[in-house]
Amino acid sequence: MSNLRNLSQFVMTALALVFLCVFSVAGSRAAQAQAAVPGQSGAAGKSLVIYLSKYGHTRAVAQEIQKVTGADVFELQFRDAYPGLYRDFSDQVRAEQRIGARPAMRENIPDLTDYRTVYIGYPVWWYDMPMIIYTMLEANDFSGKTVVPFCTSGGSGFLNTIDKLRAAAPGATVLNGLHVRDNARADSVPGAVADWLKNLGLAG
Ligand SMILES: Cc1cc2nc3c(=O)[nH]c(=O)nc-3n(C[C@H](O)[C@H](O)[C@H](O)COP(=O)(O)O)c2cc1C
Repeated sequence: MSNLRNLSQFVMTALALVFLCVFSVAGSRAAQAQAAVPGQSGAAGKSLVIYLSKYGHTRAVAQEIQKVTGADVFELQFRDAYPGLYRDFSDQVRAEQRIGARPAMRENIPDLTDYRTVYIGYPVWWYDMPMIIYTMLEANDFSGKTVVPFCTSGGSGFLNTIDKLRAAAPGATVLNGLHVRDNARADSVPGAVADWLKNLGLAG
């Protein structure tokens, strides 16, 4: 009789252990699935990367941020074509700066309501942000958002573009930006992005 009781106690304990294992594995699978949701970036909430890139350097950084954070990505594009020749293109960019132009976007960025963190990336053009970045900032409400800038350039770095971005996105909290030189080795970008995001507490 006592043997029978011992056996049934053993079976009950074994069953309880099996249930515990099954539930804890299911729980950790659910947590993994949650971390992989596009646009969802852990503690930083749902995040979006907005960038402009003509020659691909800024795009490479944007793609790396996407890989680390799982953010959604939106590439800004001009509604109207620019001159194909570098010199004409460069002259037009400079003329736009002189008159404070706001070049039209082909399409506005996604609705920001559900995004908590917005990465904004641009190449430096003539010591400033491309004017379309101002167009985009002024056409949308970034108040209450965490804005994380990144830029690429030949070497001048951000200059005062972060202050300008802050002024054009009132009410946003603007964090430390990442600058990557256009001649940086491609294999140095993942490490630079990962370190930067880790320091900001935004890595995955
Ligand atoms: C019209 C124009 C103006 C530029 N002005 C600057 C500048 O003021 N300072 C700088 O360091 N690099 C300047 N550059 C270099 C770009 O910022 C750099 O090559 C950048 O990485 C290009 O980004 P993208 O490949 O994403 O288009 C300029 C490039 C262009 C096309």
